[in-house]
Amino acid sequence: MTNKTVLITGCSSGFGRLAVRTFQQVGWNVIATMRSPEKESELTKFENVLVTALDVTKPDSIAQAIDQGFVRFGAIDVLVNNAGYGGHALFEQFEEAQIDAMFNTNVYGPMRLTKALLPHFRQQGGGRIINVTSMAGEIGLPFATTYSASKFAVQGWSEGLAIELAPFNIKVNTIAPGAFGTNFNAATDNAFSAGDQQVQDQAQAMAAHIGGLAEQMLRYGGEDADPQQVADLIYRCATEDMPIHNAVGADAQMLLEMKLGQPRDEFLQNMQQMLLPQ
Ligand SMILES: NC(=O)c1ccc[n+]([C@@H]2O[C@H](COP(=O)([O-])OP(=O)(O)OC[C@H]3O[C@@H](n4cnc5c(N)ncnc54)[C@H](OP(=O)(O)O)[C@@H]3O)[C@@H](O)[C@H]2O)c1
Repeated sequence: MTNKTVLITGCSSGFGRLAVRTFQQVGWNVIATMRSPEKESELTKFENVLVTALDVTKPDSIAQAIDQGFVRFGAIDVLVNNAGYGGHALFEQFEEAQIDAMFNTNVYGPMRLTKALLPHFRQQGGGRIINVTSMAGEIGLPFATTYSASKFAVQGWSEGLAIELAPFNIKVNTIAPGAFGTNFNAATDNAFSAGDQQVQDQAQAMAAHIGGLAEQMLRYGGEDADPQQVADLIYRCATEDMPIHNAVGADAQMLLEMKLGQPRDEFLQNMQQMLLPQ
């Protein structure tokens, strides 16, 4: 048993929600944050779980959630930046406001939380930051370029941060999941009806092709594409000495092996073959 405390963003569903239960079951205190805590009826029943409002785009709500966490548990040892969403469309179809919104959540969100907690981590002599990224942060994905850019940003930021924070005994890890059947696909910001006819036709063809591939990836994971795998890896990063970057899911492992096992251009040519409709 431990009396450590973890703060997790995006706990209303998916990996974040599973992570709450994973930590809670082994005695951690959990600050389970979400945009609409008034809708939550299950996590609120657990003794050592504080369910509280946090929107990663709103600095005031971040400060309030952290304050409430300190009042209830006295310390925060681990931050899990999990909240995020995706979006499918050709790049030309994305409005600048959509790009801003995605970066605001997926990139500036984790940065805001990290900035808010770093002084506490330094003061208490250490801490851990776990950033949930994506295989889209390892491989530039067509038809999801804005999402890919946001996740690449977090991968690069985390890598530099891990080195920068080592002298303060603050560890940083990334977790890059492959395809898992959470709410993620329903929550995507898709824009493929924008643009002229040529753009729309290409977007429809890409949507059909990429949609088919995503299904295959989920099936490739088979029984193994259980989102609990991601929650378990989050827990391991909080408690063990893990590499900075971690991939999870059979499809993610396969893609990463391809990426690392081939010259860069050869790999990208293979990706083009696979990711464009023929
Ligand atoms: N599932 C996959 O295949 C997959 C693959 C690679 C990476 N990921 C990454 O994994 C992370 C978790 O996704 P998931 O698969 O668990 O999807 P999910 O079930 O859709 O969960 C996403 C969570 O993020 C929250 N969220 C979105 N915007 C937020 C904001 N501004 N402030 C606070 N919370 C916000 C959502 O809250 P609401 O309920 O309020 O919308 C939800 O709780 C994301 O960063 C995603 O990019 C997922």
